[in-house]
Amino acid sequence: MAFLKRRPQGAEVDFDHLPRHVAIIMDGNGRWAKKRGLPRTAGHAAGAENFRTIATYCKDIGLEYLTVYAFSTENWKRPAEEVSAIMGLLKKYLLEAIGRMERDRVKMHFFGDLTPLTPELRELCRRTEEISTHYEGCQVNICLNYGGRDEILRAARAFARDCARGEKLPEELTEAAFDGYLFSAGVPDPDLVIRPSGEIRISNFLLWQSAYAEFYFTDVLWPDFTKEELHKALAAYQGRSRRFGGV
Ligand code: FPP
Repeated sequence: MAFLKRRPQGAEVDFDHLPRHVAIIMDGNGRWAKKRGLPRTAGHAAGAENFRTIATYCKDIGLEYLTVYAFSTENWKRPAEEVSAIMGLLKKYLLEAIGRMERDRVKMHFFGDLTPLTPELRELCRRTEEISTHYEGCQVNICLNYGGRDEILRAARAFARDCARGEKLPEELTEAAFDGYLFSAGVPDPDLVIRPSGEIRISNFLLWQSAYAEFYFTDVLWPDFTKEELHKALAAYQGRSRRFGGV
């Protein structure tokens, strides 16, 4: 709340007890465009714009971590034209983000295997991470060519390699040690996972990390997911009783 001049009105949110980490599956861009007779790529453009708005707002209310699903390991199956439009939007976003980093002071991070991206996009990702390393604001994690199963397999392989080199013993693999091999190493698990657009599934997103997350589903499509919709999700989260398997 430190950055906001006025306490936001709306759904009953206790802004002094926000979840530390919110994760969002930005779904429904295609349907949003179809409803308006527009090409799917226009939906992604509106989705990217909304990401900007929501990420800025999350920083303003003092959220510590925001993780968004921008492109999955399965999204390469989409038509080449749509894939290249999403990559173009990412490039545009990163260029703008780099331009306003000193002002925004948002810490940027990427989860996923970036090697299949163009060298230009990889370099932009690297630069945004590097420039923002020491910023103290909200940490925004963008999942790019990310899949939960792929992440777990990579972690298992990396640990197996450490064992083969004699640097680790199988017995040393605790949950905390495994965390350290994931793309999300050092980031606390998401407290709240939001999926707009009416789909009620996890779609390979943060499979390991969401073990005890609270889920919030809404029919609202991602480009229409406003701050007020975020308030509803936060209020719903605050109404839950989290027991982590206890009583
Ligand atoms: C899912 O909606 C959305 C995606 C696969 C792409 C998300 C990408 C963006 C919001 C733009 C770029 C991101 C950033 C961070 C600048 P869908 O296409 O599956 O929608 P549908 O289910 O209605 O077809």
